[in-house]
Amino acid sequence: MMREAQPVLLAEDFDPPRYVIVSARVSPMVELARWLFERHRIPYEEEGHAPLLHVPFTWWRRGGVEVPVVVSAAQTWKGARETLHGLDSRLPGGERLFGDEPAERERSIALVEQLLQRLLLQVRRLAYFHLLPLRRVVFPVVADGIPWWERAVIAIAFPIWRRLMGRALDFSDAAIADAPLKIEEAFAIVEAELMACGTRFLGGDAPNAVDIIFSALVAPLTLPDGYGSKLPAREALPPALRQFVDSLRARRGGQLVLDTYAAARPAPQPRLQRPRRDRTLAQRLLGPAVLRAGARAAVAWGAPIVVRQFALVARWTDVRYVLEQDLAFRIEPINGPNFHTISGAFVLGLDRGPQFARERRQMYDAVSRIDVADLRARVRDEADRILTDALAAGDRIDVGHGYAHPVAARTAAYLFGIHGPTEADLMRVCRALFHFSFLANANETRVTERARRAAEELRGWMVDEIERRRRDRIAIDDVLGRLLALQDETGAPIDGETARRILVGLLVGAIDTTAPTVPRIVYVLASDPALLARVRRDVDDPRKMTGWCWEALRMWSAAPVVFRRTPAPTTLAGRAIPADCKVAAFTQAAMFDRGIFPRPRQLSSGRPLQHYMNFGAGLHPCAGRDVNGVQLPELVSRLLKHDIAAIGKPRFVGPFLDELVVTIKRPRP
Ligand code: HEM
Repeated sequence: MMREAQPVLLAEDFDPPRYVIVSARVSPMVELARWLFERHRIPYEEEGHAPLLHVPFTWWRRGGVEVPVVVSAAQTWKGARETLHGLDSRLPGGERLFGDEPAERERSIALVEQLLQRLLLQVRRLAYFHLLPLRRVVFPVVADGIPWWERAVIAIAFPIWRRLMGRALDFSDAAIADAPLKIEEAFAIVEAELMACGTRFLGGDAPNAVDIIFSALVAPLTLPDGYGSKLPAREALPPALRQFVDSLRARRGGQLVLDTYAAARPAPQPRLQRPRRDRTLAQRLLGPAVLRAGARAAVAWGAPIVVRQFALVARWTDVRYVLEQDLAFRIEPINGPNFHTISGAFVLGLDRGPQFARERRQMYDAVSRIDVADLRARVRDEADRILTDALAAGDRIDVGHGYAHPVAARTAAYLFGIHGPTEADLMRVCRALFHFSFLANANETRVTERARRAAEELRGWMVDEIERRRRDRIAIDDVLGRLLALQDETGAPIDGETARRILVGLLVGAIDTTAPTVPRIVYVLASDPALLARVRRDVDDPRKMTGWCWEALRMWSAAPVVFRRTPAPTTLAGRAIPADCKVAAFTQAAMFDRGIFPRPRQLSSGRPLQHYMNFGAGLHPCAGRDVNGVQLPELVSRLLKHDIAAIGKPRFVGPFLDELVVTIKRPRP
């Protein structure tokens, strides 16, 4: 559930934006988009322009004249209505703009439509009609935050720009006479609603999305504090406009605007830029085919390769040996220090010992009771909802951040009981922690510092939730609830800190493994039309779909290598391995070992599932195996039930595969 008054974040805390808002900065519809993105903590890049000069830019992005035009990997939302409905479709239950229940949604959508019809054009028409003659007042307002050359164009050609604006907005006598009436009608509608519900806001004690939509749309005529772009000072308004503004501010609806801004307008997001590159040079060079060739070469070489304090192990039996001989090949020196930096010890960073034995049992106790039938139904519903919404808006879907990422986050929040203030917060924090824990070099201080701050945030959410459940005696049958119900050897409930450490490890391990894995599988299966046709015949067979997914992952592994370190000299397949040697267990290569995977270059859905090492092996196999066995094949099957017409290039954000745009053939009506 969303919380207001969230802490202010640094620019480097945000994930790079996946949305570009092409805007006329001062526009109330753009203010609305900024406010909603910021409220839900969704990072965006704003490409701000002056009114009218925005048109070539919105056209170039295949939008129309109306701002904002919001561009994301697979969709372009043109104007206020598409932005509202598009954003609503991207949000999880509990955060959706129009509510969750069908009746509530219908009511909110109808109310918002009434407001849009009366306000979208009229507020701008009336405001510009009064302000355009006052160059001194209007210029700083429209020039705020726009490129220097646009400012120069308007400064030089102000009379022409003013005339064109007047023509675009229609300043005819009839239109100007009608504008205040329509605006007052909108106020009256909102005031009648407020009367009917008898609360301070339309949303009750706190503003909801309808309060925000109304407030943003009329802000240029009510002048609240906190508008995300420059507005004229009240004293600078011409008398007729000032009188109208004062009359609106004095109404119950005007008070609602001021209160909504005060209660719910977040601090503006720092300026962010969507990364211009899809992939780094290394990601370009080391594509799936090259990685696969490397895996095949390593297993063909056979014996372990040892160079000073580094060893590479590729044959299936050797990789298994490394993962099973966990006292000779230890995990604690690999993962332990990172876990200590962010939240304290976790099973994946512990070697065999009393703490490992105790906490592993506690973790599995909580995880093994996940109801997989319930999970399957939820994943299906969530996947289908996202696909249906995407297909209602067009024929493209981003399988990464637009599909697998939200489903993985929703699954994790539901299973583990930690939701974060918003879904985007949960995703951001978990990604920062995963990046630091498994994918960063020790010298990447920005990654480390970001992870430290993310860990603090996550700790706060968890401590609050644990306290709330214990204080109010709330029993929920999720992983957190089961951990809190566990007892230690003395019969006392396990302490909140242990529950929290286990939960951090699970959360971090769950989302940013699943999210980049689904696009990998889809890319492998859908890039070859003949293979795709074979796979699509099996979409209703969960066992075969699991086989196809595990095969696809063998071809483009999500975790191709896992590492261990030797505490003392040892031997492996007849080779001496020195003490303090970092051993790379090349699990992807092992899955090209002909002894275990005959005809390894071919994809087949019928291989024994226990031979795969996509999810590790030995003492630390993935604790999410059962979840993966449901979630990954379900996400892939629900997508492949649709006919794929084209598949784009994978796009990386840092080390994460984040975007893969798939075009779906829509059935003819
Ligand atoms: C595509 C999805 C996933 C992939 C590719 C994946 C991969 C892996 C791998 C390779 C390991 C072993 C690491 C090593 O030996 O060094 C592992 C361990 C682990 N995974 Fe996953 N994982 C996935 C999803 C999940 C999920 C959904 C959860 C939580 C429900 C999870 C929780 C864990 C935990 C707790 C461990 C450590 C287990 C232990 O140390 O005993 N993983 N995972």
